[in-house]
Amino acid sequence: MAVFLKMFNKTETFLNTHSYRIRIFSYLCPCINNQNMSTMKRNLAIVVAMLVSMAGMAQEVKLPAPNMERQTLSVMQALKQRKSVRQFSSKELTDQELSDLLWAAQGVNRDNGNLTAATAMNRQEIRTYVFTAKDVTLYNPKQNTLTKVADGDHRELMTAGQAFAKTAPVVLLLVADMKKFGSSDEHAKWLMGIDAGIVSENIYIYAAATGMATVARAMMDTKCISSLLKLSEQELPVLNHPVGFEK
Ligand SMILES: Cc1cc2nc3c(=O)[nH]c(=O)nc-3n(C[C@H](O)[C@H](O)[C@H](O)COP(=O)(O)O)c2cc1C
Repeated sequence: MAVFLKMFNKTETFLNTHSYRIRIFSYLCPCINNQNMSTMKRNLAIVVAMLVSMAGMAQEVKLPAPNMERQTLSVMQALKQRKSVRQFSSKELTDQELSDLLWAAQGVNRDNGNLTAATAMNRQEIRTYVFTAKDVTLYNPKQNTLTKVADGDHRELMTAGQAFAKTAPVVLLLVADMKKFGSSDEHAKWLMGIDAGIVSENIYIYAAATGMATVARAMMDTKCISSLLKLSEQELPVLNHPVGFEK
């Protein structure tokens, strides 16, 4: 509702400050008098505000609940199968597979809001972004949703000389939020690297247990990624994980 009202006010102001254009239009259509014109402006403002608020709603997508009954390998078998894979088929992940993958990476696994991945002092400062052929989204573990951050395919930013990285249907990007961690000194950076590594291992083990393929990667175009995601200097891309199925 707030978005709608904000857009309605903005659009009405815009239409009022540009009403000379509408006036030109009214000379061409004599049936539009002053009263018609103000009704027309108001209706237009309502339509624009509705469209913008609907688009805003589409920015947040609910994921299916993680499937706790998924058939997977045992922990011992998954550890036996864990490996880095750099060749991906074009097979896409289903929404359920993506949800389960993100939950395994660092979803909420207890009522107290703690995660499948441990973090130093429980700071939970690692964020997971999802790059696909369609868009870039941010995973919200507490809501089990994806928030759109950018439209379009930006997997190219992950390649940094390793073209295979953009051939995986999904690339997960792990970003450390130093502000959330509460410090950015050398020791803190070290701990954040470990936290990202724990999420990374969760992804590896989940992939091995479910027949998916992945590889942890430090190589990526950090500058362009930071610019695309509008990251501050306190938010550091640490690792990325192409995830898909082995070719
Ligand atoms: C922190 C870290 C960064 C890595 N960065 C890359 C990378 O940028 N590109 C790549 O192809 N592999 C990368 N790897 C994967 C390693 O090369 C791989 O784990 C190693 O060769 C051992 O192979 P394995 O995972 O199959 O046992 C990285 C692994 C880790 C843990």
